[in-house]
Amino acid sequence: MPPVSRRTFLAWSGSAGLALLAAACAPKTTSLPGSSATSSTVPVTSPTAAGGSVDVEISMRAVADQIEIRPGSLTDVWRLVAEVTEGDPAVVQPVGASYLGPTLRLRQGQRVRIVFDNEIPDETIVHWHGLDVPEDMDGHPRFAVPEGGRYVYEFTVVNRAGTYWYHPHPHRRTGPQVYAGMAGLFLVSDNEEAALGLPDGEFDLPMVVQDRVFNGDDLVYLQNGRMDQMLGVLGDEILVNGRPDAEFTVADRSYRLRILNGSNSRIYKLAWDDGTPLTVIASDGGLLEAPMTRPYVTLGPAERVDLWVDFGPAGVGSSRKLVSLPFSAQRMMGGMMADASGLPLGVGFDVAAFRIDREATSNAVLPDRLSDPGFVPAEDAVNLDSARVVTLGMAQGAWMLNGRTFEMTDVAPDEQIRFGTTEVWEFHNVGGMGGMGGMGGGMAHPMHMHGQQFQVLSRTVDENGLNSWQTLQEGFVDEGWKDTVLVMPGEKVRVLRRFTSFPGLFLYHCHILEHEDLGMMRNFRIDA
Ligand code: C2O
Ligand code: CU
Ligand code: CU
Repeated sequence: MPPVSRRTFLAWSGSAGLALLAAACAPKTTSLPGSSATSSTVPVTSPTAAGGSVDVEISMRAVADQIEIRPGSLTDVWRLVAEVTEGDPAVVQPVGASYLGPTLRLRQGQRVRIVFDNEIPDETIVHWHGLDVPEDMDGHPRFAVPEGGRYVYEFTVVNRAGTYWYHPHPHRRTGPQVYAGMAGLFLVSDNEEAALGLPDGEFDLPMVVQDRVFNGDDLVYLQNGRMDQMLGVLGDEILVNGRPDAEFTVADRSYRLRILNGSNSRIYKLAWDDGTPLTVIASDGGLLEAPMTRPYVTLGPAERVDLWVDFGPAGVGSSRKLVSLPFSAQRMMGGMMADASGLPLGVGFDVAAFRIDREATSNAVLPDRLSDPGFVPAEDAVNLDSARVVTLGMAQGAWMLNGRTFEMTDVAPDEQIRFGTTEVWEFHNVGGMGGMGGMGGGMAHPMHMHGQQFQVLSRTVDENGLNSWQTLQEGFVDEGWKDTVLVMPGEKVRVLRRFTSFPGLFLYHCHILEHEDLGMMRNFRIDA
């Protein structure tokens, strides 16, 4: 049995460390003592879960497990496992030998119930990233359940076809839990998409890109303590779908690659190794209006992009690589460039290889037009000329939003929104050390809003940020619906968003998970 490194286990589980250790020493396939097998379950059914009939019912569990990530060695992980208990079993698709949760495939309009059981020795709750659901179905940290706890979700999939995902969202514990393996894809299809005849089945290839640090068998989190929390954890090993040295064998035809940056903090600058431009067909909130080409795609944490790639021209016997290109990352702390751990941010490396090993018996044609995104005119905004400004900066040694840190249900006056309105928000990354002028540096922050997707209206960058910005800006995919937008140091990003679907308390935050855990997160409240 592999030892659990002390560092890892302290960082993961805090006071619940003993339970994790116990789990690691238990026979491989068992769930933890005190799981739903015993009678200690505390059922929590959210108030709006009606309990009536649904199209699909899924049982999802958070469990401690061991997975062979590196050949010949078993790694302790926490993961989300699921099975269909009612409806089409194909809704839950396992992701091979991986810590990742299964890929859920649902159709727009389906009513789903997810019965979630927490069997890890830590409190948790699951959030459906990018999905537009009622407040008590959104996995807000105030709904976290303890070990042995249950939370019942029930919602209708209203989103358009797209690549969404799910991950835990407990306060201060999201970073370690995602890092330990808790995340999966939530793919939605709809009629508009189905009519296009895009590559499907094995030709619709999800790729969850993450970076990790290993010490022998063990995943190591926060090896540099406070420095890693301030800068975000960077790994030195790139995993795709939970596997190192990812290689896909493919046919000589067209594929849809659905790429999620599931990393805690790393930004990728994705490109083909042979310099072929990327063909982008979708962003966070689904298909673009038409395919676009990019020399590279910049993908911050939590962002998604769907690529179209035709392996036909390369031909059987050849191979191609998806790489991350170098860029200039300003990471300045206390006046020093700091990259305490892992592969430094901004260096280049390989992400995945594709080996074309067979002839295809079918193919798909890239449509000229993909979708009607149904964008909203900016003129609809109630504050077109006076955007709601959110400054991203550092104060009192911590990252803040408008100088505030997260408090569970706190909503400031400038975080209250009237239901039914459309607004412009401006994320302003003041750069440097909390905007103390002239220092340059600072960090990029991927800003995420829960609830409805938004449109990016504009980006402007100041002189201090310009050089760094120019090494990534051609890769922003701002033409589609977004739920997460990378805001570079010195940059102001204006977004347009409707608040027309569900009233209630929702989150907006930086999706560098260490920043989120440290409090770079706030509530907004939509009042009916
Ligand atoms: Cu992907 Cu509030 O999170
Ligand atoms: Cu989210
Ligand atoms: Cu951040």
